[in-house]
Amino acid sequence: MIDPRSSIIEKRLAGVKRVIAVTGWKGGIGKSSIASVLALLLARKGHRTALLDLDFTGASDHIILGINDAHYTEETGINPPLACGITFMSMSFFSQGRAVPLRGSDVSQAALELLAVTQWGEQNFLVVDMPPGIGDASLDMVRWIKRAELLAVTTPAVLAVETLRRSLALFERLNVPLLGIVENLSAGVPSQFSHHAKFLGAIRCDPNLEAVTGQPELILKTSFAEDLGKIAAVFGQEH
Ligand SMILES: Nc1ncnc2c1ncn2[C@@H]1O[C@H](COP(=O)(O)OP(=O)(O)O)[C@@H](O)[C@H]1O
Ligand SMILES: [Mg+2]
Repeated sequence: MIDPRSSIIEKRLAGVKRVIAVTGWKGGIGKSSIASVLALLLARKGHRTALLDLDFTGASDHIILGINDAHYTEETGINPPLACGITFMSMSFFSQGRAVPLRGSDVSQAALELLAVTQWGEQNFLVVDMPPGIGDASLDMVRWIKRAELLAVTTPAVLAVETLRRSLALFERLNVPLLGIVENLSAGVPSQFSHHAKFLGAIRCDPNLEAVTGQPELILKTSFAEDLGKIAAVFGQEH
């Protein structure tokens, strides 16, 4: 069945050069931190950058970046606000601090609606903080955002490594391009993925990160931002 939103989403994303989907199939591994700070770093480098928080149940990019009183405006579709130099859209705009009791296909539907109405304009990058897991919502996103390149986040934990291996195989079968693999919360030991052709680097465990939540200027001074900056430089200069 052809869903009319498919062509609308493509039209909405027409001015976006690259879509980076930050994913990782587990919670608490730093996906939101990486997506938010990556958008911040790209914007500071002068790239036109947008950020879309699709983690409906735990939208947190606005908390990480301290975006408290930004609001979208409506015209033909909705226009995301510019906050921290980033064109920003999040389900948190609609949930108003409450938990959103969505699950399964509801999450997909809400995400698709958001993609169908958001006017991104011209962007060099759209960073997407993906819904957790490789459930329907996550699979639907890569199906609908056809140009999405995956930035896969893992940690040194054995379970995260195994989950990532299986997930990468799945996305390869689905022909979703892999931009790269990042190991977060590294303890300085070489990553299990360090020999993978798409391994981009590690981000050290940074005990100061939590304390600077909501303060973008201070986030930029952390070792987290320094490590992620080196990784972003790899693909932030192409195109
Ligand atoms: N490299 C790191 N060093 C220290 N704390 C980190 C690091 N990466 C993430 N965190 C912390 O871990 C918690 C979970 O991160 P988050 O980005 O919300 O993960 P996810 O989006 O995968 O659930 C947050 O409190 C965050 O500040
Ligand atoms: Mg998250």
